[in-house]
Amino acid sequence: MTRLRMGMVGGGPGSFIGPVHRIAAELDREIELVAGAFSSDPARSRVAGDSYRIDGARAYPDLETMLREEAARSDGIDFVAVTTPNFHHLPAVRAALAVGIPVICDKPATATLAEAEEMAGLVRDAGLPFALTYTYSGYPLAREARARVAAGAIGAVRKVVVEYPQGWLAGEASGKQAEWRVDPSRAGAGGCIADIGVHAFHLAEFVTGLRVTRIMADLGTVVPGRLLDDDCQILLRFENGARGALLASQISVGERNGLRIRIYGDVGGLDWKQECPNVLVLHHIGGRTELIQAGDAALGTEAALASRTPGGHPEGYLEAFANIYRDFARQLRGEPGSLAPGIEEGVRGMRLIDLAVRASAENCGWIDFPK
Ligand SMILES: NC(=O)c1ccc[n+]([C@@H]2O[C@H](COP(=O)([O-])OP(=O)(O)OC[C@H]3O[C@@H](n4cnc5c(N)ncnc54)[C@H](O)[C@@H]3O)[C@@H](O)[C@H]2O)c1
Repeated sequence: MTRLRMGMVGGGPGSFIGPVHRIAAELDREIELVAGAFSSDPARSRVAGDSYRIDGARAYPDLETMLREEAARSDGIDFVAVTTPNFHHLPAVRAALAVGIPVICDKPATATLAEAEEMAGLVRDAGLPFALTYTYSGYPLAREARARVAAGAIGAVRKVVVEYPQGWLAGEASGKQAEWRVDPSRAGAGGCIADIGVHAFHLAEFVTGLRVTRIMADLGTVVPGRLLDDDCQILLRFENGARGALLASQISVGERNGLRIRIYGDVGGLDWKQECPNVLVLHHIGGRTELIQAGDAALGTEAALASRTPGGHPEGYLEAFANIYRDFARQLRGEPGSLAPGIEEGVRGMRLIDLAVRASAENCGWIDFPK
């Protein structure tokens, strides 16, 4: 089996997620990073190319040059990974799809809902593989939780609590990662809701298998002078009538990456924390509590397929990310079984941001979440 050749846009020196994409993509030796337009500064793109140990001639000054020159090679790229800040996702996806190159794009899909709707049209018209890296749905035990809910382990879902506290933007937003995230011209309409709220939202829909149909949002901008939200409370109503709450915050001092989901049904409850990802807690209504552990022989097919190490040998963020890449590789090879989120989930995330920002500003109470 030949390796799929990846070209990356973004991921320049000092970036957060570009190196993560590189590691995750290459973990299973199904994919190899061979080219990139790693920065809008050509010199920095070359520096990044060196750090990724790719052929210097394939560290391009911009995406357009990469697409043109790679198309002329017999060993040109098979797909593009978009790892730039949100405002650049749509132009990058548009350029790649226009020349017939599939895309894996980081979240949120775009900077605005209108852009996401345009992106959905482009993906539909191109008919090419497309995936979005909502990383947390790649964890084995998030997939196990989803399978257990679907199999009725907790009965009918009644309540969902999903929280995602961080504290790194509690003060001044300084540094490469922080600066664009609080700038509406680069981050888009949402701050914390776009950066991490969409992860929580996607995880809630992914694990429950239920769609949110209404929300009531209270988004705050707590740090003085900031232009985007940094602390979010959202009440959720799901399609089956279940109630939920989504809390996302970047001013919660001391919290690092505290994504946690609890789902309560009529016969049980599930509890999973991203910072302790190798344990899934299953409560039974009679009082018994079961610990489901990564690597257990009793895991379902999807969780087992998403696991690489035996029980007691912890897996984490990079492996979860690699599972999204493995799913995407399946799509590229035309194989079934991908659980990778796609453009539909991307548009839903952008709709959440758009509705939550507007509903909160207008203080309009409950608002419908269109299908
Ligand atoms: N899936 C996840 O868990 C996760 C985690 C972090 C970030 N993200 C997403 O990844 C994206 C990037 O976030 P980050 O934290 O890595 O940002 P970052 O600021 O650390 O890195 C962005 C990189 O893109 C480069 N870049 C900007 N414009 C460019 C252009 N026109 N052409 C080429 N390169 C360009 C910058 O030089 C930089 O190297 C965002 O959309 C963010 O929401 C996702």
